[in-house]
This record gives sequence, structure tokens and C-alpha cells, in this order.
Amino acid sequence: MQILTALEPLRTALSALKSGDNSDRPALALVPTMGALHEGHLTLVREAKRRAASVVVSIFVNPRQFGPNEDLATYPRQLEADAALLEAEGVAVLWAPTVEAMYPASYATTVQVGGLDTVLCGAARPGHFDGVATVVTKLLNQVQPDVALFGEKDWQQLAIIRRMARDLDMTHPRADAILGVPTVREADGLAMSSRNKYLTAAERAAAPAMNRSMREAAAQIVAGKRVADTLAVLREAVLAAGFDRVDYADLRDAETLQALTELGERPARLLVAAHLGKARLIDNVAVGGGQTC
Ligand code: PAJ
Repeated sequence: MQILTALEPLRTALSALKSGDNSDRPALALVPTMGALHEGHLTLVREAKRRAASVVVSIFVNPRQFGPNEDLATYPRQLEADAALLEAEGVAVLWAPTVEAMYPASYATTVQVGGLDTVLCGAARPGHFDGVATVVTKLLNQVQPDVALFGEKDWQQLAIIRRMARDLDMTHPRADAILGVPTVREADGLAMSSRNKYLTAAERAAAPAMNRSMREAAAQIVAGKRVADTLAVLREAVLAAGFDRVDYADLRDAETLQALTELGERPARLLVAAHLGKARLIDNVAVGGGQTC
């Protein structure tokens, strides 16, 4: 595995990978990450290996997607351990640019996906999705993969990146080659996240209640219980489990993220964000429609 931190060597390595591949499989898959890798990330990497001849993983803790009071300084950084995990998965290139390489002093451009970026997590984290859309655009332009993989764990992020790829006529990868991978969970249902490290033992024990309550709520909505009542019960259940604050507990159109007061024909998603100690946990599940979660 090559570990690269500057754009020129990356371009050289990628064109060698592309020209060295004689198979009719797509040449390159990209898995963007911020590191501190866990089984969720590695599942994306394994799926990427099935989809393309060579896999590029990026690790970049993107300052533009952290708010002023967020955890940029303390976000876990463990490049050596991450590199060993990726090497073992057969990754071809680890792209780990420096902040200066990504955002030189003259840097001026922001990508904004209007409408989808101010709801849900965007309401609590202003500017967050501008940072995500901007860095993902840059990563896609830098690597020019045939497919790029993202976790359903961050459903709003996935919806925004898909919308951006369509809106901007992205061809590397094509808009339909932005692939979502189902959320990987701990045995007790907690969605894996680098931020689970912030939980104390007692908080870790309380955390799975969120997903449990979400599944119950989803089942009740499918069974015909009123959406507003079900969401109110869900909020109470999350708080009763020991969470400090619920940012949102919403039923939304899975693609447009518009709020829903009842189930319709289109796929729907139940999404929650809630604070537990130092961590802000997010999760989402499909409501009807047979999608995975
Ligand atoms: P990060 O939080 O490191 O996540 C990298 C990718 O792994 C994202 O696509 C995320 O959805 C996915 N992922 C994280 N936990 C997962 C889980 N439990 N199951 C399945 N997939 C999971 O998301 C980001 O980084 C950044 O915003 C990024 C897209 C890299 C832009 O900076």
C-alpha cells in the first residue's frame, strides 16, 4: 500500500493503477474517511474491493466540517494504526493529505447543497455540510474514482452527496455510482462511530436504547400509529434512557429529507440525533419499504 500526502505523487500512483488494470472491472473505488477506523469503515473498504480493481481510502480530518465549539482538536487521530488496518485489507493507496495541501492559503471555494444542508444535523451544525460537500468534491476530483462508497449511518450526508453528484453532473464517479453501505452495528445495536470513544462505561451501556426505541417507533408507524404521537414517545424514551438532549427525532423522505407527517409511497427514514455525555450520537432506520438500516 502506498501512503501519499501530496497531490502530484497521488496522480502518478493513480494513473499507474489505472493503466496497469486490464480487467473489465471498474478501475478505482474511493472510500473517504476521517480515520480512527472501525468495522464500519472496513466494511466500506471490503465492499469497495468487490466493486473495483483497486481501492483508495482517504483519511483527512476536515477542519471545514467542524464548528467552532466542536471536537476538531480532540478528534481521534491514529494514522499508523489505520494504515496497518488498510494494508491488511489490501488497499492500494492511502491518501492522507495535509491540511495545507487540501486548503492552501489562497483557498476560496465552497460547495453548498441548498435545502438539504440546513435541516436535521445541519440545523444544529451550521456550515457542517458545506464543509462535507466541499471536501468530498475535492476528494472526488483528486482521485476520479469509478465508484465512491459512503455509510448509511450518515444518511443526510449520503443524501447530500448524491444530490450534489447529480446537480453537478459528476462523472467521476457518475451520480449513480455514489454507493450507500448499510450501517454496521455493535452486537447490542449501537451504530459504530469513532465518537463512541467519548462515552463512559455507563453511557455506553445506555446508548443502544436509542436504536431499540427507533426500531419500535418504525414498527409502530408501519402499523399505522400516528407519526407525531410516535415521535413524541420516541423522544421521551431516548431521554428516559439517560440521553441529555434530543436534537431531532423525525420521519423524513429518504431522498429529499422533507419532513413527513404520514407514510406515503416513497421510501421514508426515521432519523435521530441525541446527546449522551460528551458524545452526540446519530442513527437512522428505514420505515417500511424493505430498505436495510
Ligand atoms: P467518517 O465519520 O470517518 O466516516 C467515513 C465513512 O464511513 C462515511 O461514509 C460514514 O458514513 C461511514 N461510516 C461510519 N460509521 C459507519 C458505520 N457504523 N456503518 C457504516 N458506515 C459507517 O463521514 C465522514 O467521515 C466525513 O464526513 C467524510 C465523508 C470523510 C468527509 O470528510
